[in-house]
Amino acid sequence: MTSDAIGIHDLSFATTRFVLPHTTLADHNGTDIGKYHTGIGQRSMSVPAADEDIVTMAAAAAAPIVARHGADQIRTVVLATESSIDQAKSAGVYVHSLLGLPSSARVVEMKQACYSATAALQFAIGLVHRDRSHRVLVIASDVSRYELDSPGEATQGAAAAAMLVSADPALVQIEDPSGLFTADVMDFWRPNYRATALVDGKESISAYLQAVEGAWKDYAEQGGRALGEFSAFCYHQPFTKMAYKAHRHLLGYCGHDADKGEIARAIADTTTYNADIGNSYTASMYLGLASLLDNADDLTHQAIGFLSYGSGSVAEFFAGTVVPGYRSQLRVAAHRDAITQRHPIDYAKYRELHEQSFPDDGGDYSAPRETAGPYRLAALSGHKRIYEPR
Ligand code: HMG
Repeated sequence: MTSDAIGIHDLSFATTRFVLPHTTLADHNGTDIGKYHTGIGQRSMSVPAADEDIVTMAAAAAAPIVARHGADQIRTVVLATESSIDQAKSAGVYVHSLLGLPSSARVVEMKQACYSATAALQFAIGLVHRDRSHRVLVIASDVSRYELDSPGEATQGAAAAAMLVSADPALVQIEDPSGLFTADVMDFWRPNYRATALVDGKESISAYLQAVEGAWKDYAEQGGRALGEFSAFCYHQPFTKMAYKAHRHLLGYCGHDADKGEIARAIADTTTYNADIGNSYTASMYLGLASLLDNADDLTHQAIGFLSYGSGSVAEFFAGTVVPGYRSQLRVAAHRDAITQRHPIDYAKYRELHEQSFPDDGGDYSAPRETAGPYRLAALSGHKRIYEPR
């Protein structure tokens, strides 16, 4: 590791109390389960309890990082989300408060669909580059919600991923250059007056694939690594099959004729967690990284390719190198527990949670006690969100 290394020092994720198996959704809507399990590569999706949201998940994801490393050197908190809870105040300020972080810190929220956690990571790297003693807490937290009985419904999910970005990182050193791509497309969006996203499913898949090409083309022009140097590729995963589609597309674009086995070797370990959690928007690619680090054989010194995509659309391709000793820092048991300890719900409960939301007029509301996480959204009172430890 070179002494100017900067990257991901710690990585932790949290998800929801409840889970809806795709078999339950398929039983309700008459879909052949093969479409969900094989066609899109999803087995279940996380469903937030009535007292969970992006703040409670973000704080739950970041708390173990603060417990392990302390809060003293955290000078900046960046929260990336597209499930914003306020048009002015950053959700990160509530997280800062719940975690008891020092007042001598800046906190900000970032948005560009699923991409913004990568912008947050690059911002964090720039800050650490300026002062190598600083540490930045980057948190990606989202609830993916489409209309009931729509094609997008099977690709919902929810989770938060938290990363500590520092000099001399213990997990993954992030490299220059990045390949960048932006195109103004209406593939997926959520106007301020809507609780669910609008999406043109087919258009969104082709916009994603176009962005893969564009980001890779720029990465190559910026003097990035050759395709063959990467041992794994971590893609944004709206559903896990999309990572396979994207990688096949990239290989084809590069004139490389890959077989199924080669694609699976590059992708499979990144999809284990996402197949059970579903789309977590900004957190999705970083859950893919957690899945890869936790589940793959030793990756020491190996290069990982990252393709971050956010509809609308912005994409970035960049590389990371896995640091020697990384395995002793992983949170494998906690990550697996977060998935296996969720409580399965039936279709009626899922529908009730989906339809339920805070009163549109901002009236006072008290949330039932449902979460098993460390923090809960207790109430809405006087137009203020009230969070508390559980
Ligand atoms: P759909 O029309 O319900 O499904 O929409 P389909 O008919 O396209 O089938 C899906 C796959 O299942 C197909 O495979 C079928 O052949 C297969 P493919 O041709 O794609 O390889 N299939 C079966 N396989 C086995 N057994 C069967 C069977 N039946 C069919 N019996 C769609 C699917 C993903 C479009 C829909 O769920 C959707 O609109 N989702 C939301 C949008 C989305 O996830 N887009 C992804 C790219 S955009 C993105 O990643 C950004 C995003 O995360 C947002 C952000 O940036 O903030 C979404």
